[in-house]
Amino acid sequence: MTSAVLDVYLSESDAEAELRSDARVGLTAVPKVLQPKWFYDAAGSEIYERITALPEYYPFNAEREILRAQAGQIAAASGAEALVELGSGSSEKTRLLLDALSTHGTLRSYLPLDVSEAALREATSALAVDYPRLMVHGIVGDFTRHLSRIPAAGKRLLAFLGGTIGNLMPEDRAVFLRNARAVLRPGEQLLVGVGLVIDPAVMVPAYDDSQGVTADFNRNVLRVLNRELGADFDVDAFEHRALWNAEREWIEMRLRATRRMTVHVAELGLHVPFAEGEEMRTETSAKFRPAGLRAELTGSGFELTELWTDSRQRFALALATAH
Ligand code: SAH
Ligand code: AVI
Repeated sequence: MTSAVLDVYLSESDAEAELRSDARVGLTAVPKVLQPKWFYDAAGSEIYERITALPEYYPFNAEREILRAQAGQIAAASGAEALVELGSGSSEKTRLLLDALSTHGTLRSYLPLDVSEAALREATSALAVDYPRLMVHGIVGDFTRHLSRIPAAGKRLLAFLGGTIGNLMPEDRAVFLRNARAVLRPGEQLLVGVGLVIDPAVMVPAYDDSQGVTADFNRNVLRVLNRELGADFDVDAFEHRALWNAEREWIEMRLRATRRMTVHVAELGLHVPFAEGEEMRTETSAKFRPAGLRAELTGSGFELTELWTDSRQRFALALATAH
């Protein structure tokens, strides 16, 4: 029977210890803040998949359009024997790369890395069936902590799709890029997808859709805290907010308390007061300008090999080479 290998670098107890510490810091900070990686339990990963099918959420289709058009060129330019993907989720768009790299004749293995074990298990078992000649090796890990554990399986292409790099704060993004460069050998490549700075009237609805799916995704982080840390958030008492921060050039998602309340987080022994109308930041999603992206890549030891955009210039895919 075809099966996929799965390595767990982030055990449940590691993740829980980190969640405790993030929640303690974030819920006692002013203003309150939570890290976006906690959205992605099994339910959160499924809600994200529903977001990608929304008419307002253009980043998914825009990146897929670029991949459809350029996968052949990416495969030819990279000659990769291993495709490593960070934050791979369902690996749906990645199939375009897997097909092109297989046709090009170089690809031997696919190594998706994700914090969401549920999403990774589902994706790797489906891929192992659909790509029987490929070694599928999933890694349950955190791309801010486990890059150095990625095996050196022949010449690698490191893919970071979807605009997820934009969910890192700028200082964390700089650290991430330096670490990514450090794990790659000269000549190996990074393929990174980013949302571009466009009209806020297009960007904001992508994060505040009419069906309320993104609102449900945002509130999911409270369900995660309730389940994992014994918190008693009244999930319905928080309103979804999405706004464009023009100065920082990022979309910010927040949860707004609709009434005054105190939340008890049993496992932290913490009582967290919320004022009526108080907002807690749950995600930033940075958007980029081509020149800024080039500067960040160059400054981290990469050379920008190609930069493609979709036909409506909403999203960019950059291929960068480690030198
Ligand atoms: N690449 C897919 C999925 C993007 S959703 C796409 O383009 O559609 C973001 C993915 O990154 C989720 O699967 C989530 O579980 C994962 N993720 C978020 N933070 C992470 C982290 N710190 N380390 C590893 N994976 C992370
Ligand atoms: C995964 N990441 C790139 C998404 C984004 O667009 O920032 C997560 C998301 N948040 C709200 N909708 C989608």
